Amino acid sequence: MLHNIDKILEEAGRFKADTKEELEQFRIHYLGKKGILSELFRSFKDVPADQKREVGQKINELKQFISTKIEQLLADISEDGGDDDARDLTLPGPPVQAGARHPISIVRNEIISIFGRLGYTISEGPEIEDDWHVFSSLNFPPEHPARDMQDTFFIEKDPDILLRTHTSSVQVRVMENESLPIRTISPGRVFRNEAISARAHCIFHQVEGLYIDENVSFADLKQTLLYFAREMFGKHVEIRLRPSFFPFTEPSAEMDISCQICGGKGCNVCKYTGWLEILGCGMVDPNVLEFNEIDSKKYTGFAFGMGVERVAMLKYQVKDLRLYFENDIRFLEQFKAAY
Ligand code: DAH
Repeated sequence: MLHNIDKILEEAGRFKADTKEELEQFRIHYLGKKGILSELFRSFKDVPADQKREVGQKINELKQFISTKIEQLLADISEDGGDDDARDLTLPGPPVQAGARHPISIVRNEIISIFGRLGYTISEGPEIEDDWHVFSSLNFPPEHPARDMQDTFFIEKDPDILLRTHTSSVQVRVMENESLPIRTISPGRVFRNEAISARAHCIFHQVEGLYIDENVSFADLKQTLLYFAREMFGKHVEIRLRPSFFPFTEPSAEMDISCQICGGKGCNVCKYTGWLEILGCGMVDPNVLEFNEIDSKKYTGFAFGMGVERVAMLKYQVKDLRLYFENDIRFLEQFKAAY
């Protein structure tokens, strides 16, 4: 019997009515003289004594549920049914919930704005790229192990087509299409065949920078990046460049900023080094200029590339990358005041 009542409850719960007539049918079906509830009350006398209490409670619950449901449905129908006199049109509408910008957008916009103040334009390129723009023109030789640095999503049918693993590909597109001097940043999504964890994701965002002109030097690169770091993280930030390797820059470096949590003294955020890695950079390799028909005797340039999530992690101290992709409103809401 209990099981039976549960089934009736479930069925009644699913009922919807568009008209008062339908609702009346529903009422008669359950609460009418020959309705389901009368029948249940009638068979109540056959319930064994030790179950009477429980079954009785259950039947009453069902009756209560159906009565409330009828009242609610009736209210809904009356509202839709154009009982206009009951509405006060002068009442203010329900408040609209204001959205918030995503932290990755906030950080990307800030990077764009900082470089905008230095005269950098914005350029974009396709996310589905070819080998030439992602690797070959950036001086990755065909069998060079540097290609292994980036786990790539290839298209099965055509290994020449792939999802770009870095926004450095946009450098090449700009060199192909624009005249010198070039001073541009390229924000965008990139893709790598990585298992998703707190520290890695298969989709993330980068901002690439490129400056090519006569007499561009490493000192210009350093000063530009110092300006960026101080605008982004605060005016007391120090930077340090460590030698590194990228096929498309020579010399290449990785840049660290002084840890803002401990002021460089050492803490668990900077793993007691006082420094946090933030981007890769270097002087554009003459080969890359020549591949793109730029005279490397006359022109020099620098390039840099940073991960937007990485900058956001350092800025907001949120170290699980997955949070930036889950779109949990409880996480996103916390950035409402951030822009
Ligand atoms: N493309 C590199 C990466 O995805 C980042 C990078 C390093 C970009 C050095 C540059 C650069 O332009 O000069 O890891």
